[in-house]
Amino acid sequence: MSDIRFRDLTADDIDPIRALYTTYRPAGVKLDRLRAEHATCPGVVVMAGERLVGFAYCYSFAPDIYELANIFVHRDFRDAGLGRTLLERICERAAPTHNAIVAVNSLKAETTEPKRRPDGLYARGGFDVVLQTPHSTVYAKSLSPAGSDGG
Ligand SMILES: CC(C)(COP(=O)(O)OP(=O)(O)OC[C@H]1O[C@@H](n2cnc3c(N)ncnc32)[C@H](O)[C@@H]1OP(=O)(O)O)[C@@H](O)C(=O)NCCC(=O)NCCS
Repeated sequence: MSDIRFRDLTADDIDPIRALYTTYRPAGVKLDRLRAEHATCPGVVVMAGERLVGFAYCYSFAPDIYELANIFVHRDFRDAGLGRTLLERICERAAPTHNAIVAVNSLKAETTEPKRRPDGLYARGGFDVVLQTPHSTVYAKSLSPAGSDGG
């Protein structure tokens, strides 16, 4: 894979994100909140040349916690470490102001391809499983320095 580049998400990326994600989850593309929050929450895209092939972005969950609202890589570009780098960049962006990130994955979400558990991705990114239901997994990562209670 050549000409792969990561950069911060901007408002101009929202339509390409919608186009890419629609191929995977036609009913799940509700980006009004991204329009409202992209300027204040971490967001990263991955480009292959001029083409947007992956993204990750957060919403506010609590004053000191972000929710990883979505992370996605085009299927032709998977299993090459792009998801891992997106997650690392999101954590780097979040750490200066926030103490934690939570993420949820639901196997019940309707998608155009079979859902897989992204446990390896989150475990390598330093996330723990903090809640497991029959269909969903909630992952969390503390961004606080060891020993800090965040005040
Ligand atoms: C999850 C996803 C972003 C990972 O991107 P990636 O570039 O393939 O990630 P990396 O190469 O850095 O890491 C590979 C890991 O991603 C996860 N993964 C790979 N393909 C996946 C898929 N189709 N669905 C879910 N997770 C997947 C696995 O944990 C894998 O590691 P493992 O094989 O050791 O378990 C990508 O597979 C994807 O967009 N999947 C569909 C959407 C999705 O499930 N998003 C997660 C919502 S919480």
